Amino acid sequence: MTITVKPRHPALGAEVHGIDMKRPLDSKTIQAVRDAWTRHLVLVFPGQDVTDAEHVAFTRHFGEPEVFHQTSLNLRSDRVKEIFLVSNVDGENRLMKPSEPSQKQLSSSRQWHTDSSYRPMPSIGSLLHGIEISRTGGITQFINMYAVYEALPESLRREVEGRSARHDFSMLHRITGAPPPTAAEQAAMPAVWHPMVRRHPVSGRSSLYISSIYNDAVEGLDDEAARALIEELSDFAAQPQFMYRHAWEPHDVLMWDNRCTVHAVTPHDPEERRVMHRTTIVGNEPVVAA
Ligand SMILES: [Fe+2]
Repeated sequence: MTITVKPRHPALGAEVHGIDMKRPLDSKTIQAVRDAWTRHLVLVFPGQDVTDAEHVAFTRHFGEPEVFHQTSLNLRSDRVKEIFLVSNVDGENRLMKPSEPSQKQLSSSRQWHTDSSYRPMPSIGSLLHGIEISRTGGITQFINMYAVYEALPESLRREVEGRSARHDFSMLHRITGAPPPTAAEQAAMPAVWHPMVRRHPVSGRSSLYISSIYNDAVEGLDDEAARALIEELSDFAAQPQFMYRHAWEPHDVLMWDNRCTVHAVTPHDPEERRVMHRTTIVGNEPVVAA
């Protein structure tokens, strides 16, 4: 297979043609995809009408898929345990209301974050398959955090260099009103500290590493100052020159790097169905400070 890669935005994001996700990849193609991923941070594979099993099999070319630790809100597929459900439709094909617990928790994805940063070894990347897509919103926005770090004003750079922030899964319920994690879920995922500036293990480049939905503390700051700093950094990051906005077409599959990007989805009409399935690639090393 020969792939072609066409950038979609100067900062990040490229579409990839020449892949059929229903078929296994040869090692040369896997390396070509890895190289494009390292370079463009977010890859768009249009027209991939894959089953969940094919989605998982494709993911395994790049690492082991995570199995989501939280089971109480039915965000993990019963049928294929590696699939995380980003959906407002339940197992009985019923449109869920925004007030339902799983939808409250998913609403956190409207704020800037990177998947699974609350783990001691956070995910390296995610693959999201748009099955039923929104036309009233639901645009997934990505930010190149290398570029943000490089552009940080000196005053903000001094605030983050050499400093760590805490990432806590249970912050989701505090910010969205979703039910708190069960005792077992809490025990499985205690809060962790990661450097706010990290070095990417493949590219060797430094990037800002923060999360509006998981960072509940910053080293050396009180709660209010920590919150203000994360907000200020997120506001600085959310500038058009650093951002690719993906308007979905059915059966797009997006593959992004969780180590050097953040993402957030725009709101959509809650009466509109939106069904997306995600795999999340397990991280196998701790975050290294830059
Ligand atoms: Fe996410």
